Amino acid sequence: MIETVDTLSVLRARILEWKRAGLRIGLVPTMGNLHAGHFSLVEALRARVDRVVASVFVNPTQFGPNEDFARYPRTPERDAEGLDAAGCDLLWLPTVEAMYPLGLHNAVTVRVPGVSEILDGAHRPGHFDGVATVVARLLNQVQPDVAAFGRKDYQQLAVISHLVTDLAFPVDLLPVAIAREPDGLAMSSRNQYLDTASRARAPALYRSLLALAQAMRSGSPAAEAASQAIAALRAEGFDVDYVEVRAPDLSPYLAGQPVAVALAAARLGGTRLIDNLEFRLDAAPSAG
Ligand code: PAF
Repeated sequence: MIETVDTLSVLRARILEWKRAGLRIGLVPTMGNLHAGHFSLVEALRARVDRVVASVFVNPTQFGPNEDFARYPRTPERDAEGLDAAGCDLLWLPTVEAMYPLGLHNAVTVRVPGVSEILDGAHRPGHFDGVATVVARLLNQVQPDVAAFGRKDYQQLAVISHLVTDLAFPVDLLPVAIAREPDGLAMSSRNQYLDTASRARAPALYRSLLALAQAMRSGSPAAEAASQAIAALRAEGFDVDYVEVRAPDLSPYLAGQPVAVALAAARLGGTRLIDNLEFRLDAAPSAG
């Protein structure tokens, strides 16, 4: 069974042992309730490093006061089994005290300006401060050579990329393609909040992004294609936070740029779903 560690000194000793043996270490940061998308991150790392560490920590600082921190699904035993089967070497399962030793109110906070403030950041104030803060801690704790993140959280990846560059963390980031259900719905731990009727409608989110890409390839301006996607989602019963077209670095998309990314966040029966699609204007959408 996979080695599970909940004490920083024990984690550090194991990491040191591996580093002294010249082994390269990969990290998959997660909030648990793991699914095939997470396991694909473990697999992507296994091909590149000698030891894979996964962290499971439901990070309180990235949830807003009215969000789902308390009810976020926690399945530690199933997660450990799944990680074991995926070939992960160590499960880092810190307590809140291990992650925030000075307490949540005294915690040193990392804020990544600009890219944290648009899109999801505008709708979830403080969310990316919490993400950047916990990812900085995880990178310090595990000191991986490579850290893998899913492209589903496209903006999160951009925030973490700024964090790593600006604070000079000696780590390579490995973006991994979005894992989708057969009907196109991006895999997410929050999908299990969907009731049967909402689950049946949920793939419309991805379809709206595919249609948006197609509309732009046929000559629609980005804003018009996004408005059409919003209207299509509303017709399906979604309460839309945003659908926006951006350049891959999340700066505003300018007409004529060859690659764009469409990003969407919308609620269905109270469950907030996000998805994105990066695409070339002159070809089929790129995978993930
Ligand atoms: O993507 C997630 O699951 C979380 O935001 C992360 C990166 C593990 C930080 O808590």
